[in-house]
Amino acid sequence: MSRCVVVGSGAREHALAWGLAKTSDVVVTPGNAGIAAHGIACVEASPLELSADLFVIGPEQPLVDGLADQLRAQGKTVVGPGLEGARLEGSKAYMKEFLSAAGVPTAGFGAFDDEREAIGFLATMQPPYVVKTDGLAAGKGVLVTDDFDEACADVREKLSGAAFGDAGTTVIIEEGLDGEECSLLVLCDGTTTRPLVPAQDFKRVGDANQGANTGGMGAYAPMVAMTPLLVDQVMAEIIAPTLDELLRRGIDFRGVLYAGVMLTSRGPKLLEYNVRFGDPETEVLVPLYGEGLFDLLARVGGGRLDGATLAAQGFAVTVVLAAHGYPQHPRAGDVIHGLGADGQLAEPVEGVIIFHAGSTRDAEGRFVTSGGRVLAITGAGATMAQARERAYRAVALVTFEGRVVRSDIALAV
Ligand code: AMP
Ligand code: GLY
Repeated sequence: MSRCVVVGSGAREHALAWGLAKTSDVVVTPGNAGIAAHGIACVEASPLELSADLFVIGPEQPLVDGLADQLRAQGKTVVGPGLEGARLEGSKAYMKEFLSAAGVPTAGFGAFDDEREAIGFLATMQPPYVVKTDGLAAGKGVLVTDDFDEACADVREKLSGAAFGDAGTTVIIEEGLDGEECSLLVLCDGTTTRPLVPAQDFKRVGDANQGANTGGMGAYAPMVAMTPLLVDQVMAEIIAPTLDELLRRGIDFRGVLYAGVMLTSRGPKLLEYNVRFGDPETEVLVPLYGEGLFDLLARVGGGRLDGATLAAQGFAVTVVLAAHGYPQHPRAGDVIHGLGADGQLAEPVEGVIIFHAGSTRDAEGRFVTSGGRVLAITGAGATMAQARERAYRAVALVTFEGRVVRSDIALAV
């Protein structure tokens, strides 16, 4: 059996490890208590000290720090771009410059490190006002508001470095776009690109998309509103010029190009690129690909994506259970009820898998909360309605004090 190392400690890595483990031996570093309870090996070791046929890097930070380059320098096969490719996510100012050079449709923007200039530019924009930090901010560095004064205050706070430190000392101000959002995760082996089925993520903390932006409160796939025709359009107008530009810059991008796309009345526009699997998108996508995940990812890392079969089946809905106080001040230490010793449902529901993110075990061996997003509960089924019903049936069985959960994931689909 092939051996595989997954780098990371969230529900995304749990889902990747679970999918890869169907056909390979998987080790996760560092992993978490829920992954280990699910029977997947977790080790506290630098990936550089491990050996495997395939390395899959989950989070953006190690990619931006150059881990994929270091592994490749050791001759390893890796899913995840090197430092140069990761800049597409690591700096929004770089990404916007890249998109302009590539001719990719995106929101108009300005990048500023001077407060007066930033606010002067903001005054020329129409609401909604969009203010972003330049660097990595775990999905929380974006403000979208109709309130001009709130936008100005946000510019000041971000430029002061108070909110995001160095990541925030340049702000991006963008034209506000309107429409449905889609996460299109595109596999790229350096020269060939293939889209996974489109997913939709729910970014706001509250029902009906109210409240603060988060890392993602739930997702479903396939996103039916993103028709095959629209996928083709995004591949032609957004992904193809991006690949051309990557090649022009000499970047051998092997990993996931995650396009955050807004379906505007004037066609699809790119909101942002991430250079990795989405979270919670991965928790809905992995179950759809059955036993095919290892082969697909081995082809991405090995530059053999041309000719791969991508066979997705069924529907999946993921609901995130977040800790009390998420996203601003998540509380740790709340006991999670309804899980068995293996971290899955004590009272199983068909088609449901629980992926762990911010959970750990207390001195008595009970699962307790230890991070913002605690669990991602995925229901899979033959229809979206069945997948959703299963996911929410499981959500009702897993409780902890003050949990933050949306009740409308995939409701309007
Ligand atoms: P980002 O991290 O850039 O994807 O932004 C987080 C979220 O903010 C996106 O998923 C959108 O919901 C929203 N957003 C970002 N940019 C814009 C924009 N230009 N217009 C409207 N909404 C936006
Ligand atoms: N779901 C949003 C992200 O992974 O960045």
